Amino acid sequence: MTLRVGLAGLGTAGRSVPLAIAKVSGYEFAAGADNRKEAREQYRVQYGIEVFESVEEMCRSDAVDVIYVATPNLLHAEHSLAAIENGKHVMVEKPMAITLEDCDRMIAAAEKKQVKLMVAHTRSFNPPIRKMREIATSGRIGQVIQITTLHYSPWLLRPRLPIELDTALGGGVCYRQAPHQVDIARLVGGGMVRSVRAAAGSFDPKNPTEGNYTAFLEFENGIAATLIYDGYGYFDDRELTGEGVATGSGKPGAGQRLRRARAEGLLSKEASRSGLAFEIEGRGDQDGERQRQPFFGLTVVSCERGVLRQSPQGIFVYEESSVSEVPCAKWEGPLKVELEDFREAVTTDKPVPHDGRWGKATLEVCLAILQSNQERREVSLAHQVPSPY
Ligand SMILES: NC(=O)c1ccc[n+]([C@@H]2O[C@H](COP(=O)([O-])OP(=O)(O)OC[C@H]3O[C@@H](n4cnc5c(N)ncnc54)[C@H](O)[C@@H]3O)[C@@H](O)[C@H]2O)c1
Repeated sequence: MTLRVGLAGLGTAGRSVPLAIAKVSGYEFAAGADNRKEAREQYRVQYGIEVFESVEEMCRSDAVDVIYVATPNLLHAEHSLAAIENGKHVMVEKPMAITLEDCDRMIAAAEKKQVKLMVAHTRSFNPPIRKMREIATSGRIGQVIQITTLHYSPWLLRPRLPIELDTALGGGVCYRQAPHQVDIARLVGGGMVRSVRAAAGSFDPKNPTEGNYTAFLEFENGIAATLIYDGYGYFDDRELTGEGVATGSGKPGAGQRLRRARAEGLLSKEASRSGLAFEIEGRGDQDGERQRQPFFGLTVVSCERGVLRQSPQGIFVYEESSVSEVPCAKWEGPLKVELEDFREAVTTDKPVPHDGRWGKATLEVCLAILQSNQERREVSLAHQVPSPY
């Protein structure tokens, strides 16, 4: 059975979808929808697919089985619901939606129509994060005690539309970047977060939304997790992890180069969609140069009898008297793992690993980061679900 995919949103995130589909069997890139004419034309010519001006119109087409929703956060619920109402399976970008009520509507609709709903892609799908979970649950170095995940990136410096810089519309790092870190911590820690205390800030006058946060998550099982994100781009943690040393993409000063380009007026949103902003950062060819496992900052997992940390090809395991490296399956670019999981769920009727309830629980933590920051207090959670692995 071949799953024919319709891509809603032919922008930055959407670029990965056809590239990943080309690497996974059982899929065909069949259609695309975008309200920008130039994007539709580019995809029509480059991929020979049918293109639509409206997502709703594409969802009504008999030529697609799956809709991949990569439109702005604010539209995830609307576009996912249009797909589900037309009997299509849905893969939706993170965050799943911008309110818990929208998540509920999406979950209920998918159950009623008996279609699959997956929240992808987040960095918890990265093979090393899954491997950490596997080692953590194997008992090899005992139970997880605490998780630290930190990321210093130039997220806020990359070209952004006003909607991406308005928190009320799903902009800023708490909506756009926290889902990655929250998903990583929840996957490794077992999923069930009890409460959140956080502080967040908006310290870039040109970009009036959250650019940083520090969050403390306490899990039901007693695990503590600290999530640190700084998106102002003065420092890039790839310098610490060594990511990109092999490809030259880890050289210091990514944020400084972006700042210069911004001052020179080189950074339009199109520069982001075409990959130019990544080039200026020095991230190189995102898809072609994958010689190492993907990083999303530094994640360190402390266990009762050792520590786990990502290595270039997998995981370093620090034990009583040894340090060893457990390799991961070769990294073949973003979304491949997600597409494989999704195909299995659709064709064998297995549960989707990162389903609507998982996505809703991750959004609940992200919203709690914003709420805790605003009210300067600990926020208790009520919609958590356990890790699928
Ligand atoms: N998982 C990841 O690593 C990752 C990375 C980047 C973005 N994202 C997610 O992808 C989504 C899109 O972000 P982006 O950076 O690609 O933004 P983008 O602006 O580059 O792309 C969004 C696309 O949607 C189109 N669009 C907007 N409104 C539309 C409408 N009503 N109908 C049809 N098309 C419409 C835009 O024209 C644009 O082409 C966001 O949810 C973001 O969180 C995820």
